[in-house]
Amino acid sequence: MSQPPLLEMKGIGKRFGNTVALHGIDLVLNAGEVLGLVGENGAGKSSLMKILAGAYSRDAGTITVRGATIDLDNPKAGADAGIAIIYQELSLFPDFDAAQNIFAGRELRNRDFALAPLDHGRMRSEARRILHDELGADVRIDCPVHELSLSDRQMVEIAKALSSNADIIIMDEPTEALEEVERKKLIATIKRLQASGKAIIYVSHRIKELLGICSRVMVLRDGRTVADLPVADLDVDKVVNAMIGGALAKQFPPRVPARSDPSLEVRGLSKKGSFDDVSFALSKGEILGIAGLEGSGKSALLRALFGQRPSDSGAIRVDGSDIRIANTTDAIRQRFAFLPAERKVEGIFTQHSVGWNVSIANLGALGKVTLLPSREKDVAGGYIARLGIKCDGPHADIESLSGGNQQKVMLARWLLTEPRLLLLEEPTRGVDVRAKSEVYALIQAAAKDGCSVIIVSADNAELLGLCHRVAVMFEGAIATVLDAATSKEETLALHSVRPPEARHPMGGLNG
Ligand SMILES: Nc1ncnc2c1ncn2[C@@H]1O[C@H](COP(=O)(O)OP(=O)(O)OP(=O)(O)O)[C@@H](O)[C@H]1O
Ligand SMILES: [Mg+2]
Repeated sequence: MSQPPLLEMKGIGKRFGNTVALHGIDLVLNAGEVLGLVGENGAGKSSLMKILAGAYSRDAGTITVRGATIDLDNPKAGADAGIAIIYQELSLFPDFDAAQNIFAGRELRNRDFALAPLDHGRMRSEARRILHDELGADVRIDCPVHELSLSDRQMVEIAKALSSNADIIIMDEPTEALEEVERKKLIATIKRLQASGKAIIYVSHRIKELLGICSRVMVLRDGRTVADLPVADLDVDKVVNAMIGGALAKQFPPRVPARSDPSLEVRGLSKKGSFDDVSFALSKGEILGIAGLEGSGKSALLRALFGQRPSDSGAIRVDGSDIRIANTTDAIRQRFAFLPAERKVEGIFTQHSVGWNVSIANLGALGKVTLLPSREKDVAGGYIARLGIKCDGPHADIESLSGGNQQKVMLARWLLTEPRLLLLEEPTRGVDVRAKSEVYALIQAAAKDGCSVIIVSADNAELLGLCHRVAVMFEGAIATVLDAATSKEETLALHSVRPPEARHPMGGLNG
């Protein structure tokens, strides 16, 4: 008799109020298999994975592991069945260090009984082994994780799943917060896990990357399976087609030339330990990309321009006059807007509705003014339609939205303020392919109206497709500035990792 599959989910159903998230999904997973799970924002991927991890209860269906039916009604049951999950929204304890987080709930002890003293030394050395040796991630173990960068925290989350020795590992958008170098290391780790007989479910919006990792791909649309095929039968277009039920129009809108009048000039901007002597100029309607590795100064530069972590020295001019940005109030008064990469911590007001979250930035700019509920609904409603934000309407609780849909709410909020300068950090992280082109169109429409835009992104294709120019930062300085229309992704990648032979500040207004 043939062996039963490692995992079999049958007829899984899930409803949230009026929303049917899953309509009877079947999923089979064998040992040594990497299954890709894709679909638009709100298709049901995370809901299905949370049910498999025991974090959500299901309304219908059965789950068997190695032929035995199991009751997955809490996360501990999931862990006991050998299932580990890396959640899309990170789930670490901010005040614990990496080792404490990795072993939270299953601490290593000096002796093998429940009340024996904790073996901190062994937990730390295990944490180091997994993070440093296995994942090749240079993550600090001796500080609370809230002091770590987003990508380092993502690595701790991955290490936590690996340390549990589970046979089934679920990765829900694990590379969204990672730079290319770290993504490559994670992919190598996945291949090793696969070779050792583990099974992996890999959820991602990076379809090209996913096709290089997975052996099979399952596509969800509106809570139903629309394709389940070996990777050999698929390419990016076929997957996108299945996801959206049709072909995708052009991803990037045609470039609109920027105007010649200057909007923003930055001269000799420095912040100790972050960036040094940065100068550039932006004209109205210009979209400038900033590439560079984590720690190159790109995020610090955006935060300095928004007054969140102000610069130490240098000059900022707006429409020809010197201005001072000492805090975010100064920046908002200048009609600067900032979309941070880490929406969960920095951006979203949980416990509030979608409409409230969309309109809050406007309120900040206007002072303490209350928006009429009806107006809030109108404005939010427009953006919900435009960006395809999947929710029950403006009154929906923001936390009930899927990860990608929360991102779209944040972007809508800033577009509403009609900014003079739009500072965007990873604007399409976690956003599905169709919504991505909507986001690009909205950014370009803002630029066409005269808004200057600075985009920090780890996605070089996005920078080249959308921007006029791309500045590459290296160790706190602008290493080079490239014309986006005529440059290649490899060139960008190369400049990101190579010290500049000669500094090439962006002199002149449009140089
Ligand atoms: N806790 C919840 N309460 C209410 N509705 C929810 C909850 N979790 C998910 N949903 C709804 O279920 C549907 C599927 O969401 P899910 O998070 O599974 O999507 P997803 O495919 O993971 O999307 P994304 O790519 O954006 O992460 C959405 O309509 C979402 O709003
Ligand atoms: Mg999700």
